Amino acid sequence: MKNHITIIGAGNLTESILKAISKKTNLFKINVIDINKKKKNIEKRFNVTFYSTYTDIISKSDFVVLLVKPKDYISVIDKINPFISNKTILLSFMAGISNAQISKILTSKPSIIRCMTNITISDSKSFIFYFMKPFTKIVSNKLEKFLSCFSKAKKCSSQEQIDKITALYGSGPAYYIYFNQIIKDSFIKMGYNKKESILYTNDLLQGTANIIKNNSNSENIIKSIASKGGTTEAALSDLKKNKINQIITKAIIKAHKKSKNILNK
Ligand SMILES: NC(=O)c1ccc[n+]([C@@H]2O[C@H](COP(=O)([O-])OP(=O)(O)OC[C@H]3O[C@@H](n4cnc5c(N)ncnc54)[C@H](OP(=O)(O)O)[C@@H]3O)[C@@H](O)[C@H]2O)c1
Repeated sequence: MKNHITIIGAGNLTESILKAISKKTNLFKINVIDINKKKKNIEKRFNVTFYSTYTDIISKSDFVVLLVKPKDYISVIDKINPFISNKTILLSFMAGISNAQISKILTSKPSIIRCMTNITISDSKSFIFYFMKPFTKIVSNKLEKFLSCFSKAKKCSSQEQIDKITALYGSGPAYYIYFNQIIKDSFIKMGYNKKESILYTNDLLQGTANIIKNNSNSENIIKSIASKGGTTEAALSDLKKNKINQIITKAIIKAHKKSKNILNK
């Protein structure tokens, strides 16, 4: 029998998750609820049923998945509350919103699973980190079975771990893309046109990512590129002199702080 999934929010991460699921399985009957009626076009792109109102399909679902922005969590939890029971399994991907913040609004006591991933989930190979308390074997088995259809599921032992993963793994693709933009802009500054710059940058970063995948000793890889007195060494010593590593680490610590207190301005 097909598992019924209801996703609340038809945004970026929902699209990535639907891409991942559609590549791997048609074992789920998926509903998507979004207050924005324009999002109905998601039906055409994925095999899902779209609703712009909250209905009792929520109560009939094996999993209810929250994929709205953290700022909207109170209004969304209020709306789903009538359809949630002690048997509901509620997954929340909302950055920085704790399970306690969610359960405080709900009348029933469902299983609440706090999850984190990133947009690369669309390739069906990425991690979904999750935390649940109290931990029950039955819910955990059902959850792992669901998540492992389209991702690598990884249990976390605390919400603090989820906060760290949010800053490192959830936001991570944006850091990488930012670096990609810097390299692309350098190509452009040195006279290459935009099309060439995008092509060469993407080729460079994808090729390098493949090398790292097959060789975890990054220091050795760098040594194999940067010969004494050469061009690479000149660039790397400048990056080190300007303490780029500290700047990046500081930025990630900021993201971590934010994930612990996301609604604070
Ligand atoms: N994007 C990422 O890379 C990423 C990574 C890790 C975790 N997350 C988490 O995933 C969640 C979703 O992020 P996202 O980037 O996919 O957000 P998004 O693109 O803004 O999508 C959220 C969707 O929910 C809709 N919405 C707003 N209020 C609603 C309501 N009351 N009921 C139903 N739908 C409602 C929004 O409509 P409007 O656009 O009309 O407001 C929008 O279509 C966030 O909590 C974020 O922290 C995202």
